[in-house]
Amino acid sequence: MKPVNKLIIANWKMNPQKKTEAEAIFKDISTFVKNIKNTEIIICPPFPYFFIKDKIKGKKLKLGSQDVFYEKEGSHTGEVSASMLKDFGVEYVLVGHSERRSLGDTNDQVNKKILAVIKSKMCPIFCIGESEKDANGFYLSFIKQQITEGLLAVTKSQAKNIIIAYEPIWAIGSNATRVATPAEFTEIRIFIKKILSDLYDIKTASGVRILYGGSVNPLNAESFIKEGGADGLLVGRDSLTPKKFIQIINLAR
Ligand code: PGA
Repeated sequence: MKPVNKLIIANWKMNPQKKTEAEAIFKDISTFVKNIKNTEIIICPPFPYFFIKDKIKGKKLKLGSQDVFYEKEGSHTGEVSASMLKDFGVEYVLVGHSERRSLGDTNDQVNKKILAVIKSKMCPIFCIGESEKDANGFYLSFIKQQITEGLLAVTKSQAKNIIIAYEPIWAIGSNATRVATPAEFTEIRIFIKKILSDLYDIKTASGVRILYGGSVNPLNAESFIKEGGADGLLVGRDSLTPKKFIQIINLAR
């Protein structure tokens, strides 16, 4: 069987503050990735920096969006449609990131966004994760609900191209209480596969790639892939420092 590429995704969030800084980060990363194999690198910058991708020219680097709106067109001030992203050359779209959910995205809206991304022939990176890991395991029902409601009306053939990023909220960003362990990730990865095989079938579930995100850094990146079995990583803070992001890519492949 052909080995599946590992995916390393940079989520720049609302950074950096200057176009010149964004250009410099893009340039360093694209120079490095020029010759790499078996790994896909996706950069999700803020919208105003999308143009840099064309300027820098590096086929290996793929463009991702941090969000999308689900309506096709029209009077939706401040929103960007899936077809606009597609037309710009975007291949991947983060949907349901916890920072978007905290601003109001519901499972229903996440579902509409996933369907819009699929319709425009891009790949959704469906983000899920609980805010608290309680001792009674209620967080598992929460994750299950996020997945089942987020994937409503997504067909079997569409589901196999979806990427799921498990990002426990307690492990994200500078307010993280701690980083998840590879063993915790393994447990959730198996749980997600089980939900997917119940929703679809085992074959579909095994084809869905599951990533880990939340305080990924050069010290823990390898363990999530090797011990945790992650198909890739979603990196926030450390994706803004090319040296660290390149180290993470090197460790992951
Ligand atoms: P972090 O962010 O790596 O800074 O924790 C990850 C994310 O929110 O995608």
